Amino acid sequence: MSRRFKDALNIDELREIARRRVPRFAFDYVDGGAEDERTLAGNRAAFERLRFRPRTMVDVSVRDTATTILGHPASFPAIVGPTGLNGLQWPNGDLAIAHAAAAAGLPFAMSTVSMSYIEDLARAASGRLWLQAYVFREREISDRLIDRAETGGCDAIIITSDFPTPGKRERDLRSGLLPKQEFPLRTTLDILRHPRWILTVARNKPRFVNVERELGPGANVNNFVGHNMFDPSLDWDDLARFRDRWKRKLLLKGVLRADDAERAAALGVDGVWLSNHGGRQLDGAISGMDALPEVIDAVGRRLAIIVDGGVRRGSDIAKAVALGATAVALGRAPVYGLGAGGEAGAARALEILRDEFDRTLALTGCRAVADLTPDLVTR
Ligand SMILES: Cc1cc2nc3c(=O)[nH]c(=O)nc-3n(C[C@H](O)[C@H](O)[C@H](O)COP(=O)(O)O)c2cc1C
Repeated sequence: MSRRFKDALNIDELREIARRRVPRFAFDYVDGGAEDERTLAGNRAAFERLRFRPRTMVDVSVRDTATTILGHPASFPAIVGPTGLNGLQWPNGDLAIAHAAAAAGLPFAMSTVSMSYIEDLARAASGRLWLQAYVFREREISDRLIDRAETGGCDAIIITSDFPTPGKRERDLRSGLLPKQEFPLRTTLDILRHPRWILTVARNKPRFVNVERELGPGANVNNFVGHNMFDPSLDWDDLARFRDRWKRKLLLKGVLRADDAERAAALGVDGVWLSNHGGRQLDGAISGMDALPEVIDAVGRRLAIIVDGGVRRGSDIAKAVALGATAVALGRAPVYGLGAGGEAGAARALEILRDEFDRTLALTGCRAVADLTPDLVTR
């Protein structure tokens, strides 16, 4: 296998290059899941269980991977999803991913715990920036972030609902990243074996700049990921309040049931995002793909349906779209690319997925995204 991200043939190879490049704690933060990582494995299994029933003898000489997501064009049915702490993979990692997404013609959803300013990301994302909002115990912080998203030009906000308390991520507890970034000697020695990372990433002192700005000078947000600053009392009344406050597109992320999707639809959201947080929260949860059929039956015609968890191949995107998803969201795939090679590495991840998606169209007898219909997929 190549050590150069440019030669990586697939997402797993980018992951392997990233694993060698960044310190173990930073790789494990991205790669790991909660507890026994059953949800994490289940996300891949949900795609692997599905097989194509390809159409044959179709003229696929001219193909189009483009689609529309929440009223805007996208070069293929994918969104670069929110991932916190991208700045640990590469200096200004969030900006690098935002640039790569914009160049690939995809929307980019920034995390609340991103390490670049909303305003800078909005410029980098060429106008297709979405803000993923965790809801703070101090609602004024959330409100101010949302106001900034509005002036910064975000098209959409995403309320993440599956984080009432942090999942038990044992890799992070072992490395010392959680609960409060106190590294044991083992982690420190491993970091010292990565001088290039120290000189680039660590020297830049990645910080949660957006939240820091709202918390005021001197506020300590270092303990963010482990300690829950996010409000476990978040409920449907809050969603209704966000719907009143935010007039552009609103999505609810972390839905895994038809009844919840219906309730969100009744409150006027524009889309639901079927997700188990990449296996990082509840261990033993079903995957977004498992929930897709019942949610499509319930609200598929009324709402945009985004699905995520385990997308590592373009064929996964085709399976999700065939079963009714508007688009998939990519979590780890572009972040592995980022760790392997910065902006160019993230761009390589998106290029690999687009190319594989295009091939899957051809090989299943589809000329366009609209040709991906449920009969193409079977268990
Ligand atoms: C490193 C990392 C950080 C994440 N941070 C956030 C976050 O800040 N907010 C959020 O809503 N989801 C977050 N997620 C979940 C992703 O948005 C997405 O749901 C998940 O990664 C999809 O699964 P996949 O990584 O297998 O593609 C994170 C995921 C990863 C891997």
